Amino acid sequence: MDVTLKVQRFDPEAADPKPYWENFQVSIEDNGTVLDALIKVREDNDGSFSLRCSCRSSICGSCAVRINGHAGLACKTQAQKVIKDGVITVEPAGNMPVVKDLVVNFDGFWDKVMEVEPYLKPEGPEPEAEYIASNDAMLHLSGVTACIMCGACYSDCTVLEVDPTFLGPAALAKAYRFTADPRDGDENGVSRDRLEQLNKPTGMWDCTRCMECVTACPKGVAPMDRIMALRDQALEAGFHNTNGARHTEAFSDSVEHSGWLDELRLVPKSLGMTNVSALVGYAPIAIQAITHGKMPPIIHKKLPDSKNVRKLFDKVQGPKQR
Ligand code: FES
Repeated sequence: MDVTLKVQRFDPEAADPKPYWENFQVSIEDNGTVLDALIKVREDNDGSFSLRCSCRSSICGSCAVRINGHAGLACKTQAQKVIKDGVITVEPAGNMPVVKDLVVNFDGFWDKVMEVEPYLKPEGPEPEAEYIASNDAMLHLSGVTACIMCGACYSDCTVLEVDPTFLGPAALAKAYRFTADPRDGDENGVSRDRLEQLNKPTGMWDCTRCMECVTACPKGVAPMDRIMALRDQALEAGFHNTNGARHTEAFSDSVEHSGWLDELRLVPKSLGMTNVSALVGYAPIAIQAITHGKMPPIIHKKLPDSKNVRKLFDKVQGPKQR
């Protein structure tokens, strides 16, 4: 099949180093991948065209790029599935500085992975023989250990675009790989030190749940789901004193109690009712809401059939005394 590759290029040694687009016409097998087409460009059109690849089998994680605007592995993406009007657009992965053409600098990515201390840290008494982990626990972890550190999730994370200090989906998923391991942490498998670190700003509560990392991950790791699981672990371990934890609890309490969200009280409950300076910072938004007729009702009434919502909570959390 004939493909026009529209590739973003960048040469740091050019007289005026700026990214620019270049089109290449290549011919590949009908079942060829985007990586096959990129390699063809390097071999037949321009030997200076730079890209990373190694295994060509979705194992090494080195060929992550943005294809038609979304991150993925070039070696796992069949060209015929993404070609549009004969064209495939390829850019370097996002949220990382470009070194040359499709090659990006992973230093920030690896720094964050190292920040979560990606190794087992048992805290309890040493076992007499080997550490025992159940098959179920290991099966559960197999989903997250499938990560090949390709950076696709990091590339498309919308929080990192505005806040480069965020740990990011790959590092947080890696952290979960250890907090969910029964051999890590105390004798009950609770990793309080880890959770305390991850509970800080730039950690688990900064994810906005945009789902981009879940869509981008080529191995089904679903990093956002792991971040949500980390939050559950933090709450269960008693870490309630963050905006994120308070927000989650206030949101859930409101919906469980009344069947819908009490928007008026959500912000003060999330920030902390006595956090006067933070509350004052929200005053301009409150004034705008009032002047635009968007003020939520002062008296938050229960929905007539809110008991149906409570039934859902009971089903998920178990019946409660009310
Ligand atoms: Fe190894 Fe694509 S070349 S994952």
